[in-house]
Amino acid sequence: MTVKITWLSHAAFLIESDKYRLLIDPFLRGNPVAEMHPENIGKIDGIIITHGHGDHVGDTIDIARKTGALCISNVEICSWLRRNGVLKTHGQQPGGWFTHPFGRVRLTPAIHGSQLPDGTPGGIATGVVVEIEGKRIYHAGDTALFSDMKLIGNLGIDAALLPAGSNFTMDAEDLLFAADLLQPGLIIPMHYDTWDLIKADLSVLGSKNSSNHRFEIIQISSSVTL
Ligand code: NI
Ligand code: MN
Repeated sequence: MTVKITWLSHAAFLIESDKYRLLIDPFLRGNPVAEMHPENIGKIDGIIITHGHGDHVGDTIDIARKTGALCISNVEICSWLRRNGVLKTHGQQPGGWFTHPFGRVRLTPAIHGSQLPDGTPGGIATGVVVEIEGKRIYHAGDTALFSDMKLIGNLGIDAALLPAGSNFTMDAEDLLFAADLLQPGLIIPMHYDTWDLIKADLSVLGSKNSSNHRFEIIQISSSVTL
């Protein structure tokens, strides 16, 4: 059983198993570098939203209405999605696992804000660990580096999707520290080069300091298979 992770650009990922297709933070329309259009996304079983900012909520409402996907986020964002016509939501908060049809999800802390696009408070910002087909994928959301990533690493992370663009989140040098804390099977940098404000030089990830870790710097619309 394999799990395919496709980077749709920015913090947006498509995660596919034999049976299920999940999106995380599907910001496509209005995204200057996205290649996938939300109309062409196909069947989606679940959408996970890490926090309320527009570049993460993105096209969630349209995709959920069209596909009937279950939306998973903090309870405040789930309430807002329901008020905006999304029928299937499941609120969680940072803590333990919940078992969904496709696998297990736990929300994790993140150091960041979470205001929704219309100004509604969106609860606290989160990251997420998704367990699907026995593989554990950590999407950090938008966050600064924090030492409790060590505790997330204790779960055994096969792939870590980590922001690298600085200004709003960790930068590439922080990814080296995050990698030491998380000890994941591989790391895919995200949330960089979408706009000039988060242009990143990822060359530090190829330095000898990072030789203990596997950084997968992938192109938009490319995939990694676990
Ligand atoms: Ni954000
Ligand atoms: Mn963001």
